[in-house]
Amino acid sequence: MKANYFSVVVIFSLFFIYGCYATKLLIKNNCPHKIWPATQSGTGEGAAIPTGFRLASRGTKKFNLPNPWSGRIWARHLCSYSGQNFTCLTGDCRSGSIECDGAGGTPPATLVQFTIANTSDEKDFYSVSIVDGFNLPVSVTPINRPDCGIADCLVNLKDAHCGNQVELEVRDQNETVIGCKSGCSAFNRDDLCCTGAYNSPQTCKPSIYSLTLKKLCDKAITYPYDDETLFTCSGGANYKITFCPWGQE
Ligand SMILES: *[C@@H]1O[C@H](CO)[C@@H](O)[C@H](O)[C@H]1NC(C)=O
Ligand SMILES: *[C@@H]1O[C@H](CO)[C@@H](O)[C@H](O)[C@H]1NC(C)=O
Ligand SMILES: *[C@@H]1O[C@H](CO)[C@@H](O)[C@H](O)[C@H]1NC(C)=O
Repeated sequence: MKANYFSVVVIFSLFFIYGCYATKLLIKNNCPHKIWPATQSGTGEGAAIPTGFRLASRGTKKFNLPNPWSGRIWARHLCSYSGQNFTCLTGDCRSGSIECDGAGGTPPATLVQFTIANTSDEKDFYSVSIVDGFNLPVSVTPINRPDCGIADCLVNLKDAHCGNQVELEVRDQNETVIGCKSGCSAFNRDDLCCTGAYNSPQTCKPSIYSLTLKKLCDKAITYPYDDETLFTCSGGANYKITFCPWGQE
């Protein structure tokens, strides 16, 4: 009995030394084509997670997020090598390789944003944001936590011609719509980006561009102070991110 008690103490101590609290992330590519997801860490031990990888259609990838952690996750699409130089038509991080190594994505890219708590006593915050534009539909689902909301932008805004706002469309060389800019990324104005004199919730209001996109994606953040669609989950959760949740774009 004494030996058993000793083992239990050792196992418990190891748990506390190495941390018994971890947030699991599952990324699924439900799109009919491959994508190259990317991550950018704000705070936390970002070195522990992959900064970019290829995900085949229907493929999944799992990893643990460090606690605490904040950062963003997006998918690059329409990627190819030109010689040794890896580039993508949407969401490119300009690293020239599949790993982004800390670089952010070039708009337009639908972003998943997380602030993951340090302990299960604190709240996680998560959202889907099209403040930097849209390239693919995505959803964020807390696993087995129906009490926590689902953040998503399910509608393919490209097919919807960016809410019939042609000035937001991003087209490839063949004139196919490959993404939608936000009002901010299209015009870079303070009132649309909530910068300069518009740098507060009192002065920066939704624009016709963000309101039109909000009608199509009402559970996504469409302008910088769109906090009603910032979701929270307390008690510790694991999350599933699905690109193209409907199985098509
Ligand atoms: C890689 O391609 C991008 C986009 O075409 C270009 O801007 C960049 O200069 C290239 N980098 C190198 C090292 O060739
Ligand atoms: C996270 O929680 C651990 C254990 O309670 C604590 O030692 C550490 O200081 C906390 N870190 C932050 C950044 O709050
Ligand atoms: C444009 O169309 C041509 C012919 O259909 C095709 O071969 C090419 O891959 C297309 N380019 C892009 C960027 O989609």
